[in-house]
This record gives sequence, C-alpha cells and structure tokens, in this order.
Amino acid sequence: MDACRLFLSLVLMMSTPRGKSEASKSSCLNLDQDFYSLIKGEAFYYVSYAMDDTKLPDENITWYKNGPEIKNMTTNETHRIHYHGGALLFLNISANDSGTYTARHITPSGECFYYHLKIEVFNEINRENLTFGSIKNSDQNKKIPCPQHIEDTCTTFNGNFTWFKGTNLLPGHHEATLRVENAQKDDEDIYTCICTWTHNHKVYNSSGSRKLFVVGVRVKLNCTVYCGINAKLDCKASWRINGEPVNQMNGYNETTKLEIEDLSKNTFSTAILTIEMVSAKDFQHEFKCYGSGLYTTNATTFTFKQRESILPLITAGVCVFVVGVFAAVLLKYFAIDLALLFRPYFLPGRDNQDGRVYDAYVVYQTQSLDKETEKKLSNFVTKTLPSVLEDKCGYRLFIQGRDDIPGEDRVELVERCIKQSRRLMVILTPGSGSEMIKDPTSDHTSVIGGFDWQVGLHHALVQREMSVILIQLGETGSQGYTHLPPGLQHLIHKSAPIRWPEGLQKASKWNSHFWKRVQYLMPATPAKKSDLSTMI
Ligand SMILES: *[C@@H]1O[C@H](CO)[C@@H](O)[C@H](O)[C@H]1NC(C)=O
Ligand SMILES: *[C@@H]1O[C@H](CO)[C@@H](O)[C@H](O)[C@H]1NC(C)=O
Ligand SMILES: *[C@@H]1O[C@H](CO)[C@@H](O)[C@H](O)[C@H]1NC(C)=O
Ligand SMILES: *[C@@H]1O[C@H](CO)[C@@H](O)[C@H](O)[C@H]1NC(C)=O
Ligand SMILES: *[C@@H]1O[C@H](CO)[C@@H](O)[C@H](O)[C@H]1NC(C)=O
Ligand SMILES: *[C@@H]1O[C@H](CO)[C@@H](O)[C@H](O)[C@H]1NC(C)=O
Ligand SMILES: *[C@@H]1O[C@H](CO)[C@@H](O)[C@H](O)[C@H]1NC(C)=O
Ligand SMILES: *[C@@H]1O[C@H](CO)[C@@H](O)[C@H](O)[C@H]1NC(C)=O
Ligand SMILES: *[C@@H]1O[C@H](CO)[C@@H](O)[C@H](O)[C@H]1NC(C)=O
Ligand SMILES: *[C@@H]1O[C@H](CO)[C@@H](O)[C@H](O)[C@H]1NC(C)=O
Ligand SMILES: *[C@@H]1O[C@H](CO)[C@@H](O)[C@H](O)[C@H]1NC(C)=O
Repeated sequence: MDACRLFLSLVLMMSTPRGKSEASKSSCLNLDQDFYSLIKGEAFYYVSYAMDDTKLPDENITWYKNGPEIKNMTTNETHRIHYHGGALLFLNISANDSGTYTARHITPSGECFYYHLKIEVFNEINRENLTFGSIKNSDQNKKIPCPQHIEDTCTTFNGNFTWFKGTNLLPGHHEATLRVENAQKDDEDIYTCICTWTHNHKVYNSSGSRKLFVVGVRVKLNCTVYCGINAKLDCKASWRINGEPVNQMNGYNETTKLEIEDLSKNTFSTAILTIEMVSAKDFQHEFKCYGSGLYTTNATTFTFKQRESILPLITAGVCVFVVGVFAAVLLKYFAIDLALLFRPYFLPGRDNQDGRVYDAYVVYQTQSLDKETEKKLSNFVTKTLPSVLEDKCGYRLFIQGRDDIPGEDRVELVERCIKQSRRLMVILTPGSGSEMIKDPTSDHTSVIGGFDWQVGLHHALVQREMSVILIQLGETGSQGYTHLPPGLQHLIHKSAPIRWPEGLQKASKWNSHFWKRVQYLMPATPAKKSDLSTMI
C-alpha cells in the first residue's frame, strides 16, 4: 500500500458516516453508490455488480444502515432485512427502509471495499415516475427487457415473470423480455415486469418498469390541384384511403386550403395528408387524391413501396431450402461488413459527443501466467492490438501497462481513465483468474478480481456507461469460464468473447473477420484527437 493510495482512501473515508475511527483501522476503497427506487410491499434482492464472489462467508461482509445512528443488519433469515453472502435482501419493503446502506467487504486477497446502496421507497401509484430506462427506437418490433436486477432476482430464485401494460395484465407473457410486434402509437405505455419468487416458503414480488416510446416516420403527402383561372367555386383537392375518406381516428390527418394567386388569379387547392406514423399496414393501402373542379374530376394514386432491404434475401430463400441456408450463412457472415459499411451514415457522431478521450480501456491479466501465454499476451497487447486499432483504424486506446504515467497514483489514474473510455476491452487468457493468491511483495492490481477489473466492471455493469468487448486469446482451458468473477461471467453469458485465432496468418491481417468483429463493437467514429490535447 503506497502512501498515495492510503491518502486517497483516507480522504474518501472521511466523507462516510463511519468517520475516522474505522478509517484508522484500515483503508477501504469506496465504490460508487447504487441507487434504486422501490415499491412498498415488494421485495428487493441486491447484489453489487462489483462483487466478485456472491458466495463469500457472511463473516467477511458486514452491512449497516447509515443515519443518526448506525444500524447493523443481521444475517438471521427470519428478519425482514438481512444479508447473506454478497446479497442484501429486503422483504416486504416499508417506507421506513429508505436511506443509504453500506457494506464493508474484505476480499480473500485482503483488499477492502465499501459498497454503497441508496434506496427510496414509493407507493405503487408513483410507478409511472419510477421507470428504469426507456425504450425509444424506430424498430417496428420492440423488445422490452425486464430491468436487469429484476431479471437477476428471477434467475437466482427461479421465479416467474408476469407483464403489465399500464395496470393491465398481459396474459401469456412470461419471458424476461417482452416483445411488441408491429408497435403502434397506442402501444406507447409503461410496461412493468413482476418477478414472483419464493424464499423460505414465502412468496415475494419484485418489479421494474420501462417506458416504451413509439417513434415512427411521419409522412406528409401534398396534393395540389389546379382548377383554372378564378375558379374558386368547387375547386377541391381531397385524399381517400382505400376509397374511404380520411379518418382522424386512425392516425391520419387531412388539411385542405384554397389559394388564388394575386395577379394571375390562378386557383389551386392543396390537400395535405399527414400520416403520423407509417406502419406496415400503410404499405397495403392505396392513397388516392381526387381533384374536382366545376366540370371535371381527376385522380392520382399513391402507394408506399418497401425500400430494398436485406430481409427479402432470407424470406425469398424459403422457396428453395438450399438457397435459403446459403443466403442466411452468407448474410450472417457479411452482416458485419454491411453494418460497418453503412455505419458512418447512421447516427453520425452520436457516440462522439460524449467527450471521452479513449475509445477503449484495455485490461488483461498480468500475473500468474505461464511464460508462453505471457509472451503471446504481451505480443498481442503491445504490438498487434495497437497496430490495427490505433494505426489502421485511428482509435485511441488506453492500454494498461503501456499508458500508465509513471509516478501517478494508480487508483486515481484507473478511475479517471476508465471514466474517459467508451469501451472496456477485456483480454481473457487461458486460465485467466485461476490464480487469485496475492503476492504481498508487489502491487497485484491486474489479477482478475483486482482493482482495474473491479472498477471497469462496475462502470460497465452498474452504471451502464460503457460496453464491454471480450477477446479470448487462445483456448479457454478445461474449466471454461466458471472460475471468473460472476460479473464477468454475466458479461460472457450475454455475448460470447471473440476468439483471437493465433497463428492464423489470415487473421492477423487488419481486414480479417476477427478485426471486423472487433471494429464493429468499437465506437463508430474514433474519439477526437483534440479532446486528448485538452485533457493533457
Ligand atoms: C455493528 O457491528 C460492528 C462490527 O461489525 C460493531 O463494531 C458495532 O459495535 C456494531 N454496532 C451495534 C450497534 O451493534
Ligand atoms: C432469528 O430471529 C428470530 C426472531 O427474531 C429468533 O427467534 C431466532 O432465534 C433467530 N435465529 C438465529 C439463528 O439467531
Ligand atoms: C408488510 O408490512 C406491512 C407493514 O409495513 C404489514 O401490514 C403487512 O402485513 C406485511 N405483509 C406481509 C406479507 O408480511
Ligand atoms: C416507521 O418509523 C416511524 C418513526 O420512526 C414509526 O413510528 C413507524 O412505526 C415505522 N413504521 C414501520 C412500518 O416500521
Ligand atoms: C474472509 O476474510 C479473511 C480475513 O478476514 C480471509 O483470510 C479469507 O480469505 C476471506 N474469505 C473469503 C472467501 O473471502
Ligand atoms: C410524476 O411526475 C410528474 C412530474 O414530475 C408529476 O407531475 C406527477 O404528479 C407524478 N406522478 C405521480 C403519480 O407521482
Ligand atoms: C412458477 O411457475 C411454476 C409453473 O407454472 C409453478 O410451479 C411455480 O410454483 C411458480 N412459482 C412461483 C414463485 O409462483
Ligand atoms: C404479486 O403480484 C401479483 C400481480 O400483481 C399479485 O396478484 C400478488 O398478490 C402479489 N403477491 C404479493 C405477495 O405481493
Ligand atoms: C406541402 O405543402 C406544405 C404547405 O403548403 C409546404 O410547406 C410543403 O413544402 C409542401 N411539400 C411538398 C413536398 O411539396
Ligand atoms: C391536423 O393537422 C393540423 C395542421 O397540421 C393541426 O392543426 C391539427 O391539430 C391536426 N389534427 C389532429 C387531429 O391531429
Ligand atoms: C388527369 O390528369 C392527367 C395528368 O395529370 C391527364 O393526363 C389526364 O388527361 C387527366 N384526366 C382527365 C379526365 O382530365
């Protein structure tokens, strides 16, 4: 423990209610506070994502509630609030439970962490204001995932999901993700998933809500009819949809206006049909504009055409099975190329406005590796990775070990640089993390479960600030990923690591499939160089 880190921890400690007495005992690293809004009468199962091992002995963690007087939490399972291993449980939450809770955790390697949790308890009627992130995209079919902590609770206790739209039960929906096919404006609502789970033979509910926004393309169709000179009698343009007059109830709106030019007295009638949100059904409709004058009537027809998309490739392939399979394989393989090709045209710069300096923060295990792996890893991290992502693609990486600034306090540096990065890139090596014993003579911050990982996973999982890119170097080894910290396993479960096919000449080319996959996961546009110069 260097003096600098001790000082930082001391400063952090001062601000916690436990004050100096605890701080003088040992130094503990404060992790960022998690915040949850909860509903009275429900249950809440909390595990900090920064926690490596949820099965730790109860003695190694203590939870207490902050306040004028500190209340120790119990491990007695009959109590309404208790903790067990890495988890804190609130059963039948009451309004009085609002407040901040802190856990002090000593890891096997002797490191000490403070986890902070803040909860606020609300009544059911406030649900509309307690949503966990909204769904707002232009997809026709929407996916509404149950908030992650509820899904985790349901997985842990083998519970059942039910879904509500507003206050109405949606029968037959028991998945962690609700799908709304061909979403229309009236699908816009607050969706709530309730997980019903059992603990010690009692049934509990935990719920979370999300707001769905249905954003669609709004289209205006103008139809102008020329009726002649000074022909304002009976000059009228109007729209009909499938032969029917426009019905405002169906998301259509028609306005008409008559115009007579000042000098020429040319007379026009314009009908503007507004389609609030173009949906699939509009592709089957016939839109017809009628122009009527005093003596004649004329009409013109308009239909929507689906833009050419890659979808028909798959559907058309159904006719001939062999062709279908081929097309699907081809499409899957080329999907990334297609996405990369078109990416600059979509969401240009959206990612780029976050002001972050690095495109990725690269972490890897540096200790307890065999010689051969160490050599491969070092080669990949210091040569291959920068030569492609930095030199060819123009990304800016923070590579642990390479970019550390000598003399700078590591704890502070890691926190700051991770916050300045848009992706966390985790390089997994065979047997990563299998060796967790700390060598007291050196600063083992890079062993899995060490500090960089903790902070990185925390930002990725809890704060959802950055996405993670997992790269597997070589084989996984016999144990698979089971030995890794649960936070990391959770990520691996969500998206399989990209395997670096070492030794393959083809793969090392910068335009290989491997690098395309990596590039696809990287931000669309590299971080601006100018941001960097302002920071340094
Ligand atoms: C709470 O627990 C800590 C140790 O975990 C102990 O030092 C303290 O006295 C306890 N406080 C109360 C009020 O029981
Ligand atoms: C748990 O608490 C209940 C009620 O407060 C008590 O009866 C029981 O003995 C406690 N169990 C343990 C193991 O302390
Ligand atoms: C939950 O707690 C409230 C008081 O806060 C109590 O009235 C109610 O009976 C409890 N419900 C259950 C299921 O224990
Ligand atoms: C909540 O706290 C108040 C005052 O602290 C107390 O009077 C009340 O009984 C508590 N209610 C519950 C449900 O514990
Ligand atoms: C529990 O803490 C002790 C030190 O207090 C440590 O030796 C032991 O390895 C820890 N165990 C686990 C599983 O965290
Ligand atoms: C939700 O929030 C809005 C704006 O803050 C407020 O006007 C409304 O009353 C709140 N609804 C409930 C049920 O608290
Ligand atoms: C979940 O559903 C299964 C099957 O429908 C049922 O057997 C089980 O009791 C349910 N669990 C809870 C907690 O409701
Ligand atoms: C759980 O939620 C369901 C659906 O709202 C409700 O029917 C049930 O009574 C709730 N159970 C508990 C224990 O709160
Ligand atoms: C449609 O009509 C509106 C109002 O007259 C006008 O502002 C708009 O430019 C017209 N659009 C087209 C494509 O002609
Ligand atoms: C129809 O469009 C006009 C002009 O854009 C607007 O003033 C009117 O409120 C709209 N009516 C409906 C029902 O949306
Ligand atoms: C309707 O308009 C088209 C051109 O827009 C014209 O060719 C056609 O002759 C018109 N029909 C009648 C009946 O006026």
